[in-house]
Amino acid sequence: MGKNINIDWNELGFDYIKTDFRYISVWKDGSWDDGKLVEDNMLTISEGSPALHYGQQCFEGLKCYRRKDGKIQLFRPDQNAKRLNNSCRRLLMPEIPEEKFISACVQVAKANEEYVAPHGTGATLYIRPFIIGVGDNIGVKPAEEYIFCVFCCPVGPYFKGGVTPVNFMISDYDRAAPYGTGAAKVGGNYAASLLPHENSAKRGFADCIYLDPATHTKIEEVGAANFFGITKDNKFVTPKSPSILPSITKYSLLYIAKEYLGMQVEERDVYIDKIYEFAEAGACGTAAVITPIGGIEYKDKLHVFYSETEVGPVTKKLYDTLYGIQFGDVKAPQGWIIEISSDS
Ligand SMILES: Cc1ncc(COP(=O)(O)O)c(C=O)c1O
Repeated sequence: MGKNINIDWNELGFDYIKTDFRYISVWKDGSWDDGKLVEDNMLTISEGSPALHYGQQCFEGLKCYRRKDGKIQLFRPDQNAKRLNNSCRRLLMPEIPEEKFISACVQVAKANEEYVAPHGTGATLYIRPFIIGVGDNIGVKPAEEYIFCVFCCPVGPYFKGGVTPVNFMISDYDRAAPYGTGAAKVGGNYAASLLPHENSAKRGFADCIYLDPATHTKIEEVGAANFFGITKDNKFVTPKSPSILPSITKYSLLYIAKEYLGMQVEERDVYIDKIYEFAEAGACGTAAVITPIGGIEYKDKLHVFYSETEVGPVTKKLYDTLYGIQFGDVKAPQGWIIEISSDS
């Protein structure tokens, strides 16, 4: 440790970059071992591992941010721990104690602190915890051994030249089945999204929007992000459905809209043929915080919300507040921030 790394923070995208340390813990004979930091970024697993064949794996994504005072901090890792455990229950995988999850993220961030960009660059350290079912197996059944790993990569700011809207198209594909795994962060959902994403990119859209799988009338997900709209009478509205991945960013924005901006908030059905009720719309998630939605193409027509080139005023306020909290410039609600100091 202590080596000087040479990264142009402004040129960083969202790509794998090998950092120095990752955390590994193994579940065997009914319990997790103590876990440790290791330098090797290769995993050696049985060719029969259920993660490889039957998708018995799940993951999370969160970030470590550098504050103005030079300290680094995590944003709501307890929420990622809870969501990972929800995914584990859905796939019959052993849960990770919340403290073990948070401790692993803290250890990885601290051990790779040189990769956390200076404050003001907008770059962050992306942390990727995951669990895979491993071991000799061929039948469709849960694994008998599991690996919990947390690694990290420095990533650039999502918006390099300021927050700008992009357009999305409605997909004919579904990302999740009505009582399937849509609310769990499991790899299979993302494998299923590759083709619809590519189709929308080929047509010049940033990504596609998935409607509810049962009726195809309600907005569910915006690519790998949740949807929100600001109604013409200034309410923050976001879809409610059991097949949406519960976005930590979305629930943070719901809180900010209500408690910081004094707005009314609603989690409810959002019908695609009623999107004219919104003055502004956005996609939210850890990667970008908020991606303003310029317009949505549905049945060959593009519906534009606020503007195709400029972010709307409410979306901007929401973005600035949450971004400020994450980087330590705006006071966070109690319990949202885990500060990583040299003795943590
Ligand atoms: C399908 C999907 N929806 C929503 C989100 C946003 O969730 P979060 O705000 O917790 O990053 C993500 C990213 O994790 C995602 O993959």
